[in-house]
Amino acid sequence: MHRGKGMKFVGDSRISAERKPNIPKDYSEYPGKTEAFWPNFLLKEWLVGAVFLVGFLCLTVAHPSPLERVADPTDAGYIPLPDWYFLFLYQLLKYSYASGPFTVIGAIIIPGLAFGGLMLAPFLDRGPHRRPAKRPVAVGMMLLGVAAVFYLTWESVVTHDWEAAAEQGKIQAEAEIDKESDGYKIYEAQGCIQCHGENLEGGPAGKALVDNGLEPDKIADVAKNGQGAMPPGVFKGTDEELKVLSEFISGVTSK
Ligand code: HEC
Repeated sequence: MHRGKGMKFVGDSRISAERKPNIPKDYSEYPGKTEAFWPNFLLKEWLVGAVFLVGFLCLTVAHPSPLERVADPTDAGYIPLPDWYFLFLYQLLKYSYASGPFTVIGAIIIPGLAFGGLMLAPFLDRGPHRRPAKRPVAVGMMLLGVAAVFYLTWESVVTHDWEAAAEQGKIQAEAEIDKESDGYKIYEAQGCIQCHGENLEGGPAGKALVDNGLEPDKIADVAKNGQGAMPPGVFKGTDEELKVLSEFISGVTSK
């Protein structure tokens, strides 16, 4: 009837027959070394958290994110730049052995070997030693990797054309434009729009005409005779149209 009563069914010598409860000792056993979670500990946590939050808030107010103009997917001339922590990968793709037909080498094979090696390090280097001096291969590889990342990041910063980058990302002044006006219609019909943009905002082929600060006479002259990169003879209308167009462009100012 009472089979097994008082017996201990333990066949594994590693398991203690007496079960010890898996509960830590009550903290009242460590007088002076503990504190209550609520409110003491939480209050400290929150205070530290609040200090960091306010710190970040001040930083974001003092250094607003460096925004550029609204992204334009049709602008094939724009050269994007990754954030600083990806610059080394970006730089790798500029070398001839890792770009063009060899992009796979720069984009997948070299980074893949580096990060794969990092992941497999515990399996590749199974030595029991912990001192760096006793693990020359692992330490050497790591130093090589760190040096490569620093070197590539440095190179990408010094070879980047920061002025051109600032220019291409410049936020253009936006203007309130009456697209029903005669001036705008002539602007459109004469093809100025193709280079100077739908909102006179400029683009890869033409300068912005918003806030140009030019007299109508000067604009009429440029429209007929060109200037710098703008070819002459773009305007092919009548003198009356030229006058309306020039006055219209002269009056386009930002909001
Ligand atoms: C093929 C592209 C193209 C077309 C079409 C074009 N422009 Fe231009 N325009 C430019 C470029 C590029 C510049 C900048 C020239 C420079 O100063 O180097 C420019 C400059 C100007 C300027 C001088 C702006 C300044 O601040 O100095 C005016 C004004 C102007 N264009 C008016 C017009 C008008 C009006 C038309 C239409 C009749 C027109 N453009 C058509 C490309 C073009």
